[in-house]
Amino acid sequence: MADFSKVIAERNSVRKYSEKEVPCEVVKALVEAGLQAPTATNRQEIHITVVKRDNPVQKEIQQDLNPDATTSFFYDAPITLYLSGEEAFKWSPVDAGIAVENIHLAAQAMGLGSVILGCMEKILNGEKKAEYAKKLCFPDGYRYQIAIAFGYAEATKEPHKTDFDTHVSIL
Ligand SMILES: Cc1cc2nc3c(=O)[nH]c(=O)nc-3n(C[C@H](O)[C@H](O)[C@H](O)COP(=O)(O)O)c2cc1C
Repeated sequence: MADFSKVIAERNSVRKYSEKEVPCEVVKALVEAGLQAPTATNRQEIHITVVKRDNPVQKEIQQDLNPDATTSFFYDAPITLYLSGEEAFKWSPVDAGIAVENIHLAAQAMGLGSVILGCMEKILNGEKKAEYAKKLCFPDGYRYQIAIAFGYAEATKEPHKTDFDTHVSIL
């Protein structure tokens, strides 16, 4: 397991994956990293749906997002996790954001790459919302929050530069 500050410093969004499948125990460890995230009032409401690359639901989302797209919105990653949260709980978007970052960092620490995916929001929470909620096994009263695709990176990029002076105020 890599040193934590190194994991944070080297993390980047991966958009090219090798064909290599991710072993079940690694998928499970990453899902567990999401479930271990803190949640408001310790509600632990975030639900995670594990979807493999060739599942038809991925093709349907891809089509609904843009039938003319020539590249995959999932970057052909072997696994995508869909995080859903309680529609009526105001902290679910924040809880899902924390959980997905836990998974993103855990993937980096375990030698995988990942990319957080918000792009399907308008599809999964749009007019086919109920249909997709069923297909993705969201619990009743839940809505899509965020997704993350992961696998073994075929290409990585330099971590983005930060600008402390612009983004930080010290009182
Ligand atoms: C909430 C959120 C939604 C995102 N949605 C997408 C997405 O749909 N597709 C994508 O390629 N990257 C997506 N990203 C990744 C960002 O584009 C990426 O974090 C940003 O460009 C900075 O690059 P880095 O992560 O390599 O530092 C998303 C990131 C976040 C935090």
